[in-house]
Amino acid sequence: MNVTIGLSDHQCKQMATLLNALLADEFTLYVKTLNFHWNVVGHDFKPLHDFFRQQYEDLFSFVDDIAERVRTLGGDSLGSMNKFLATTRLKEAPEKIFTSQEMLQILLNDHEALICTLREDIETSAKVGDMGTNNFLTDLMEKHEKIAWMIRSSIAK
Ligand SMILES: [Fe+2]
Repeated sequence: MNVTIGLSDHQCKQMATLLNALLADEFTLYVKTLNFHWNVVGHDFKPLHDFFRQQYEDLFSFVDDIAERVRTLGGDSLGSMNKFLATTRLKEAPEKIFTSQEMLQILLNDHEALICTLREDIETSAKVGDMGTNNFLTDLMEKHEKIAWMIRSSIAK
């Protein structure tokens, strides 16, 4: 069905492609965070188990919102593990046991990488002229910045 919201098909397609790449990144980080929620051990188990749960809940809502934004623009959302893994720019964590501090650092690195990607995507969406997506991405970047701050503050010096 045609989307007649003042953006051309080309503009919508550009944004849907950008958003699907972001969706794959967010889904990858969601699964990594779930993994750490389940497998964290140590004296700080309980606070980190809870901290990671809050983060995967947030990430799930980001994933859902991004997929629905793709649909809003008339695109098809990625929706399979194959597609997510083929598209994501983040790396899955190696299958090994991590200390809680390593887990925090891995997640911080990913959130910071996403913030840098989002900053570029915000510029792109403004150039394309999709200010709805621009606003959506700016809001999302700010949420990642806050999570990154909280993780950074939890890393022992
Ligand atoms: Fe749980």
